[in-house]
Amino acid sequence: TYVVTESCIKCKYTDCVDVCPVDCFREGPNFLAIDPDECIDCTLCVAECPVEAIYAEDDVPEDQRQFIALNAELSKVWDPIIEKQDPLPDADEWASVTDKFDQLER
Ligand code: SF4
Ligand code: F3S
Repeated sequence: TYVVTESCIKCKYTDCVDVCPVDCFREGPNFLAIDPDECIDCTLCVAECPVEAIYAEDDVPEDQRQFIALNAELSKVWDPIIEKQDPLPDADEWASVTDKFDQLER
């Protein structure tokens, strides 16, 4: 499966959503999660994310391994998002912030 990681928080550009052939993105207030039971490993979303938030499960950086379980957990309680929408208002400011896990809203 593929996994959304920290860079997405407070950005939520949603370019990833448009290309997913199985609509497996789920939307929270300021982050998206991929449902691991639906993702078919097509890889298409990886190149779409402007902040490079999406990794194959095996390639998730060591300090972000917690996002594997987090995507699985949150994708079960959040609703599907199937169309691109506007990014969050301060997305461009938050795009370069690397340490923002404490900003995640559930
Ligand atoms: Fe969707 Fe493919 Fe990305 Fe999985 S790898 S979330 S199937 S676009
Ligand atoms: Fe998030 Fe990147 Fe998609 S910022 S919403 S993973 S395009």
